[in-house]
Amino acid sequence: AAKSKAIGPNLTACHPSYGRPDLLVYCCPPGFESPLPFVDFQFPNPQSHVRVRRPAHLLDQNDISKYNKALSIMKSLPYDDPRSFARQANLHCLFCTGAYEQQNSDTPLSIHRTWLFFPWHRIMIYFHERILGSLIGDDTFALPVWTWDIPEGMMIPNFYVNMNLSFFHPERDFSHFPPQMADLDYATERHISREQQIDTNLAFMYTQMVSGARKTELFMGCAYKANEGYCNAPGTVERAPHNTLHTWIGSNLNPGREDMGKFYSAAKDPIFYAHHSNIDRLWDVWREIQEYQLDIKDPDWLDSFFFFYDENLKLIRVKVRDVLDITKLGYSYEEVDRPWLNKRP
Ligand code: C2O
Repeated sequence: AAKSKAIGPNLTACHPSYGRPDLLVYCCPPGFESPLPFVDFQFPNPQSHVRVRRPAHLLDQNDISKYNKALSIMKSLPYDDPRSFARQANLHCLFCTGAYEQQNSDTPLSIHRTWLFFPWHRIMIYFHERILGSLIGDDTFALPVWTWDIPEGMMIPNFYVNMNLSFFHPERDFSHFPPQMADLDYATERHISREQQIDTNLAFMYTQMVSGARKTELFMGCAYKANEGYCNAPGTVERAPHNTLHTWIGSNLNPGREDMGKFYSAAKDPIFYAHHSNIDRLWDVWREIQEYQLDIKDPDWLDSFFFFYDENLKLIRVKVRDVLDITKLGYSYEEVDRPWLNKRP
């Protein structure tokens, strides 16, 4: 049999990495040098309650205060605790700036702009959601979804800009706060009407989800394999709206539009997780539109793996093949309209 070229990190080989071309950052976890025992991923108990991720603009006061409480507890945990918000945020820094080396190789591992983009973020927010739920003793807790692809969701959801809640984050572009509509293909300010922005966004979604994404690699990103170097060709949705909204949210006063504008700092902003719920949902929407015909079957992708701490502080090894069916992962998405499906530009 051919030798596997699945990708995975060497947890004991972590080093400072570049946060921006001019900035070295250190996000390695405390004590990474000592060998860590891990267990392989297991699906949650199918008997347990399903976590239903709902559009953020539909959350009620009760949902918001539960999440607010969970997030404030998470933010108060010490840095030694892998469940702490700072450590959760640094997971993104670790896997996205090349802090870890790959197993059996001294090449840095970096998941963006490759076919690992969708599965890695799915796993990251899966554990993040379970940790938040366990901090408030609620096994139905589900992350909100920032549904920026429908007109009702095209502004920053209100609770993220409420200074009295733990979702507020100062490192943002304040000129993009509501009522400003998001520009899904943001590069510079467009100065167009709300109606024009909505139409532009819907037509853009059609391109990214349908007409520009009729082949596997076009949507999923390039094949990234061990010992072949970094492939560096993002899928349609990863490039935009994903990257563009990161930039749109991040502060215009920072050189890399941090925090959301750069990999090393992006997950320090609580809106990162609602943004990625929507990315995760759209991955499944694309698969459904393509009738699952374009799903990747390459074992090097299916066997690529990562390590995450779960809500019980156990270190878990998760493979891409473990996370392809969200029903088995115990969560679902509330149905969201697809007004862009018939918005061919
Ligand atoms: Cu890992 Cu939204 O970026």
